[in-house]
Amino acid sequence: MSALDAIDARELPRSSPAPGLLGLAERGLLPDALIRHGIRRQCAARLATERAGGVAAAEARQQALLAELRASALAIHTAAANEQHYELPPQFFQLCLGKRLKYSCAYYPTGAESLDEAEEAMLALYGERAQLADGQDILELGCGWGSLTLWMAERYPNARICAVSNSTPQRLYIEEQARARGLANVRVLTCDVNRLALPAGAFDRCVSIEMFEHLRNYEMLLARIAGWLRPEGRLFAHVFAHRTHLYPFETRGEDNWMGRHFFTGGLMPAADTFLWFSRDLAVETRWLLPGTHYARTAEHWLARQDAAAGAVRAILAQAYGPDSAALWAQRWRMFFMACAETFGYARGQEWLVAHYRFARAG
Ligand SMILES: C[S@@+](CC[C@H](N)C(=O)[O-])C[C@H]1O[C@@H](n2cnc3c(N)ncnc32)[C@H](O)[C@@H]1O
Repeated sequence: MSALDAIDARELPRSSPAPGLLGLAERGLLPDALIRHGIRRQCAARLATERAGGVAAAEARQQALLAELRASALAIHTAAANEQHYELPPQFFQLCLGKRLKYSCAYYPTGAESLDEAEEAMLALYGERAQLADGQDILELGCGWGSLTLWMAERYPNARICAVSNSTPQRLYIEEQARARGLANVRVLTCDVNRLALPAGAFDRCVSIEMFEHLRNYEMLLARIAGWLRPEGRLFAHVFAHRTHLYPFETRGEDNWMGRHFFTGGLMPAADTFLWFSRDLAVETRWLLPGTHYARTAEHWLARQDAAAGAVRAILAQAYGPDSAALWAQRWRMFFMACAETFGYARGQEWLVAHYRFARAG
């Protein structure tokens, strides 16, 4: 077991505010401007930590972490991550996200798009970059509430789409939507990707949007996906990433609020992280998008949460218990602010979004 695997998410305090200034923020007693200032300071501190000792030291740390990932399980703390986001009632996400319920970065080519338009624009970009076409067999890993799966099912009526996530509410939501829209070409599996078994050579495309950040052993992942793809098949992945630094969201230690409450077992990949795991699938091409796209997305999510504050509180009361609803509403606000500030940091040139298309190696 690696040091990363040893983090015990069960120890995490979930229903009472943190001590100190963070607790004041969690109780809603600090203005947003101050919270955002604190988040930007955390970003600066993170960069200083990652850069400490200069490039040689930073690279040695990165190589050690890559070796740990290679020795790790495919994904860790999957139950905690699932509970933190994905088992919440879909109504919460219907209130905060856009029409497509895309729980990942949207695309703002002019910067003036609405959230709904930006969701559509990113989905269309995936269609081009993943070279999706009608008639394909498409596997989506980490399908969320079906933003891409339902879009593909509508756009490519003769494609057969198999969507996978570890969340039962997500599957029920997609199945209901597919029925309501008359889409018979979608199948949804509820399965932890650690245990996912699929027939060999069954898919033309595998697509995955902001799920790799929940995973660890990319060598194992890419080997399994390579096995599920046909010889000419392609994998398309969208992740958020830091330009150069790879680091885990720890649940202990200083900078751990995100790891503790929202992203246990999660990872901030570096833009080049997957290039180190190219034994079975190799990157054919990569695109980088400035983090400002994610900053806009998260600002839209926050604005929608705030506009529906009463309804959000009622849903969170069901999910976390009536005594914790206010605390969790504020934590979700802080989470959206953290995304907005982190990806907006340095005009989106530090933390960003990366797209990759992989083909069989060799
Ligand atoms: C950030 S969401 C992205 C959802 C969707 N791709 C979108 O863009 O709207 C990550 C997705 O990965 C799924 N996921 C995370 N860890 C998983 C695991 N170990 N096994 C299966 N699915 C997982 C979550 O349930 C969720 O559907």
